[in-house]
Amino acid sequence: MKNIVILISGRGSNMEAIVRALEAEKWPARIAAVISNKADAKGLLFAQEHGIPTAVVPSKQFASRDEFDAALREVIDSFAPNLVVLAGFMRILTAPFVEHYAGRILNIHPSLLPLFPGLATHQQALDAGVVEHGASVHFVTAQLDHGPIVVQATVPVLPGDTAEMLSERVLVEEHKIYPLAVRLFVEDRLSIKDDEVVIVHAV
Ligand code: GAR
Repeated sequence: MKNIVILISGRGSNMEAIVRALEAEKWPARIAAVISNKADAKGLLFAQEHGIPTAVVPSKQFASRDEFDAALREVIDSFAPNLVVLAGFMRILTAPFVEHYAGRILNIHPSLLPLFPGLATHQQALDAGVVEHGASVHFVTAQLDHGPIVVQATVPVLPGDTAEMLSERVLVEEHKIYPLAVRLFVEDRLSIKDDEVVIVHAV
């Protein structure tokens, strides 16, 4: 039974998709905790309703990134995670933090990485005039929104799209690919070797 710790900052719809898939598909895993850097993150309520332990490490109350990351790491590790899942966790993490979880920390980013790292990815895609956009699940490395890609999903960019319309279309796909990647990991079918993603396909 693998322990998953999910980090959120807000709505938590990706966390919710993972919790629902775990429950429906009976993965060999449990959500050990949902942790937020914001006390008012909506997703905490869903976690609590599902009997999942929650914790808040308020990023605003720390003087430096290093201090916040150290405190966060202590709370995460108290839940003995096999996997840390960043699900709309809107904080840049320091290199020592990321290295501590090397090979066992995933993120979802709403673009077809390496395109459009950072914020406002849907507007970035519209401004760039791409015809296709999407989302990427990747292992986290010290470089923001980089790291070996596990799975991507694409959606078309349609005439008249606004950033909001595009984000809704991408989110539907996020809710499919993130549970898929987490499931592969907890079934020991997803790992990283020499900076390359290794996926063992079912026969
Ligand atoms: C998601 O679209 C996720 O891909 C994005 O934030 C949203 C969180 O939604 N993450 C990032 O932009 C990270 N760089 P959610 O809280 O409903 O899962």
